[in-house]
Amino acid sequence: MKYMTLNNGVKMPQFGLGTFLVESGEIAYETVKYALEIGYRHIDTAQMYKNEASIGQAIKDSGIQRKDLWITTKQARHMNLVHMEKAFLESLDKLQTDYVDLYLIHWPNHDEEINAATWAYFEKLYHEGKCRAIGISNFQIHMIDDLLKHAHVVPMVNQVELHPGLSQEPLKKYLDKMQIAIESYGPLMKGGVFMDRYADVLAPIAKAHDKSIAQIVIAWGLQRGIIMIPKSITPQRIKENYEAQDIKLSADEMTQINALNRGNRVYTDPDNSPWGAYID
Ligand SMILES: NC(=O)c1ccc[n+]([C@@H]2O[C@H](COP(=O)([O-])OP(=O)(O)OC[C@H]3O[C@@H](n4cnc5c(N)ncnc54)[C@H](OP(=O)(O)O)[C@@H]3O)[C@@H](O)[C@H]2O)c1
Repeated sequence: MKYMTLNNGVKMPQFGLGTFLVESGEIAYETVKYALEIGYRHIDTAQMYKNEASIGQAIKDSGIQRKDLWITTKQARHMNLVHMEKAFLESLDKLQTDYVDLYLIHWPNHDEEINAATWAYFEKLYHEGKCRAIGISNFQIHMIDDLLKHAHVVPMVNQVELHPGLSQEPLKKYLDKMQIAIESYGPLMKGGVFMDRYADVLAPIAKAHDKSIAQIVIAWGLQRGIIMIPKSITPQRIKENYEAQDIKLSADEMTQINALNRGNRVYTDPDNSPWGAYID
């Protein structure tokens, strides 16, 4: 398992399990339990995924010591302080832990002041030791610039849509400069990497390594220094994705995959998102 050293010195596993659309109950429980059994130590969830309680139970039953695990969760909305506190305590309770390793603002608000107020609350949690690291998700460069005008703590991570069709090179350069780690979501492009022009490039590379296209995409992200959290509820794929950590791509293969970028989003554009309303 490789680790990223975040800007506060904390070491975060560079590879983990995504759990968006992993149904709460038996599916989430069994998925996480299996992943932990085969070596995953980093689980990415969110208040919005409604599966924190099943994940918390799977973690507890795994018998793995809390200090050996990385748990990321996300604050669903920018709410008033009372609601933010309530949401955070609910996440801790469901995850059966007294701290999270990484807490993210799930979506930016279009109002800079609201993002600043939310971040101030995150900073408070960080200083109280309730989060080992705090970060943001879906923040564009201009949104980070705005946030940094108010912030006392520079976010440690920005989790964004990132895959061969949207390589996020300009954002990555900016984040590298700011010492903010970049984390990919949607690495498989909602299945897009298995089709058309993506498959034309990725399938021969996969064949040359005797690996799958999914594994090549994960290896490409890891090799770029990106935190990768592919999601699967299928045991064979959970294992396959885990094993992608051992793949080494050549410079030429990296260049070929980098060239697939077309700024092609399959998730919501943060500049036009309908989320982030201020709720009393
Ligand atoms: N911050 C945000 O706003 C945000 C947004 C979206 C996602 N995320 C996070 O990022 C994680 C990953 O993103 P994602 O869930 O959108 O997409 P993803 O990991 O790109 O893809 C998941 C899909 O690919 C399939 N799959 C997984 N491994 C495969 C393999 N080896 N071969 C073939 N198919 C495979 C899964 O099927 P099965 O499950 O049926 O096996 C599932 O349908 C999420 O789970 C979540 O934790 C964050």
